[in-house]
Amino acid sequence: MKKFTTINDIENLSKTINDAIQLKEKPYQYETLGQHKTLVMLFFNSSLRTRLSTEKAARNLGMDVMTLNVGEAWQLEFEEGAVMNLNTSEHIKEAAQVISQYADIIAVRAFPSLVDKDQDKLERIMNSFITYASVPIINMESATGHPLQALTDAITIEEFKNTAKPKVVLSWAPHPKALPHAVANSFAKMMQEREVDFIITHPPGYELDPKITKNVPIIYNQKEALQDADFVYTKNWSSYSHYGKVLEVDANWMITKEKLGAAKFMHCLPVRRNVVVEDAVLDSMQSVVIEQANNRTYAAQIIIKQILENEH
Ligand code: CP
Repeated sequence: MKKFTTINDIENLSKTINDAIQLKEKPYQYETLGQHKTLVMLFFNSSLRTRLSTEKAARNLGMDVMTLNVGEAWQLEFEEGAVMNLNTSEHIKEAAQVISQYADIIAVRAFPSLVDKDQDKLERIMNSFITYASVPIINMESATGHPLQALTDAITIEEFKNTAKPKVVLSWAPHPKALPHAVANSFAKMMQEREVDFIITHPPGYELDPKITKNVPIIYNQKEALQDADFVYTKNWSSYSHYGKVLEVDANWMITKEKLGAAKFMHCLPVRRNVVVEDAVLDSMQSVVIEQANNRTYAAQIIIKQILENEH
């Protein structure tokens, strides 16, 4: 693997999932693979899980890790041919090449503006690093995708499934703020690659990018959609058609114990209790959110391992 910026970069998905589950049993079995190599993590936005799990994954492989909150460094310019006489101090062309002198892998988190759809779809920050860095790039959540989270989610479903082809429902849930589409996008892409019965439910107006959801059934009646589900993956996202807008905060879409039935509850976290999902779900044995968060380490570790192995 030369880079990991979308789930399409995974060559053999089933093997990667099984290898991650195997790594989880013996996390230190490749503890010298990354010796004398450095992961540089760049955060344009906040993180708890991604930051800690990706660092832990790299350390399990023997790597050194350096982290930069980009907001504390020089303000970057991304425009080609820019006359830099305003606020930006350093062009991405120099910055990406310089960071590559200190890193064997660069991991980047850069959220969307949620203002300009066309600009966000260009993935300017992630693609600039791919273009100008001389080392592999890992996406730690970009404007349109969160592939490490989606790999984590596939690992978690593989571990918890009780039938060969479980029913998996991605349900929109209310949230007071406008949130990105990245987690939902990558999860929808991932589920279309897996042996699952996958459907999406959300209020009208919250349709995701149709190029991503393709032929996935969309059911606007949440109760009908959740019927006999094995896994309910809950996530808020803002409108895609009315880009970045919160159309409604309908409390009736919150996931409750009654709605969940016998299904497992999944969420990428962080989650707003009693807005997205009620306490009774998160505090029950049906919630697998903590196991999901644990699997972030092994998703990152199998990806870093595949990138390190590609170097030899
Ligand atoms: N799920 C996830 O990416 O969590 P963080 O935003 O805390 O990294």
